[in-house]
Amino acid sequence: MFQAVTKTLSVTSTSPVCRGILLGIRHYCKKTPTKLRVSEALSGADLGANVKVQGWVRSVRPQKANVFLHVNDGSSLQPLQVITGAELSDPSLTFGSAVEVTGILKKSPHKKQPVELEADQINVIGECNPVDFPFKIKERHGLEYIRQFPHLRCRTNAFSSLLRIRSEATTAIHSYFKENDFVQIHTPIITSNDCEGAGELFQVEPSGPDIVEDEYFFSVPTFLTVSGQLHLEVISGAFSRVYTFGPTFRAENSQSRRHLAEFYMVEAEISFTQSIEDLTKVMEDMFKSATEHVLAHCVEDVDLFHKHVTPGHRDTVDAMMKSSFPVITYTEAVDILNRSSEKFTFPTDWGCDLKTEHEKYLVKHCGNTPVFVTDYPYDLKPFYARDNQDHPERTAAAVDLLVPGVGELCGGSLREERLDLLSARLEEAGLEDIYSWYLDLRRFGSVPHGGFGLGFERYLQCILGVDNIKDVIPFPRFSHSCLL
Ligand code: 4AD
Repeated sequence: MFQAVTKTLSVTSTSPVCRGILLGIRHYCKKTPTKLRVSEALSGADLGANVKVQGWVRSVRPQKANVFLHVNDGSSLQPLQVITGAELSDPSLTFGSAVEVTGILKKSPHKKQPVELEADQINVIGECNPVDFPFKIKERHGLEYIRQFPHLRCRTNAFSSLLRIRSEATTAIHSYFKENDFVQIHTPIITSNDCEGAGELFQVEPSGPDIVEDEYFFSVPTFLTVSGQLHLEVISGAFSRVYTFGPTFRAENSQSRRHLAEFYMVEAEISFTQSIEDLTKVMEDMFKSATEHVLAHCVEDVDLFHKHVTPGHRDTVDAMMKSSFPVITYTEAVDILNRSSEKFTFPTDWGCDLKTEHEKYLVKHCGNTPVFVTDYPYDLKPFYARDNQDHPERTAAAVDLLVPGVGELCGGSLREERLDLLSARLEEAGLEDIYSWYLDLRRFGSVPHGGFGLGFERYLQCILGVDNIKDVIPFPRFSHSCLL
């Protein structure tokens, strides 16, 4: 168990700073200090007030007469500068320690910070041994280094920026859907369907002393969801615009930089669609609207990435925002790949799955901007994808959005709404019994509809330029990883 360590350091001397504090607090001394978050203190709204700020020490600079601290509580990238007399300096006041500081908020003489806190009391709530602490004061640790400490990396500037951006991007996506009249649906995590048919499933069964052997808890085999699509399709039989945004699971034995076993997916389903453009429009609008929101609301955090972690990436983001995403068919994509002088590891014949190397090439070929690839071979796509009924090559009305640095960001399709075609395909795959309820959706008021899923972590990789997906999720889950 954690033990609370509280050590109070109070002003007793009459150093110039302390005298200032004592004078300053006269007006406030009868009042309980106002508790502020660092971001609130930095706003300058409480200048002259007696305040209390709680957070973690990000730097300590002892000088002859004074000690300067930077304190952060996760509310902003910028820390609050705390200034106090040298007599408040204490060996327990170290980089990484947790503190509670009380004092007067003053206008700072330094240009870079609007305010500073002149402390008259500092409580060290939790000590931190700087020798054992894996992050060092003044060092800029790389993402790869901090990844080794998933339980501590939120204390670094880069990862705390990432977490704020992730939170704001979540808000941005919900706002986009709200503004466009989509209804949010909580699709289940536990399900019996393998929507994508790829068999990358985590099975769910209870464990414990009371389990009955050889009996399924839900009477059928159940899994963690690989996609909320089929449940969204159920609801889209009565709601013309729905979406879901939640955790998704794939038992892919992959150590790649863009795959996780647990990731977040944003999925939308739209009824009464006319064509694939109805989907590409929503994908492009959502991408741009969410990105615009993040760039406007997380200026300093995004700058940290674009200046120090992935320098130069801002130009790519600006170019993406300005461009109108081109659309090419799968057949055109294969043609481009076959005409290129690039040596690909995987084949590029018509009918082959596009691999990351192909996707990245196509993005570059199209001007390093997001590009939609449509009309994939029918046999490459799951049972729900709408048959284009074309010849000689048979394609499905499916679409992927490929983006710089990442490759596939979104996957979607028009759904097969025609009962006869859908039952034939399910029958061929031996799935007609399992999906009898899905066929019912086509029996009762079926309409042309379609949707897509966007990998939220890949989206963050794309806008921040982060190479490894494990660096954009608080607690990455991937095969052979040790879990926290
Ligand atoms: O292309 P996917 O497999 O599409 C579906 O699951 C559809 N049922 C979605 C729909 O139409 N409602 O996955 C969608 C996106 C991918 O484009 C990718 O960005 C992301 O989810 N994704 C992953 N992200 C991280 N780790 C993985 N293992 C991922 N697998 C897919």
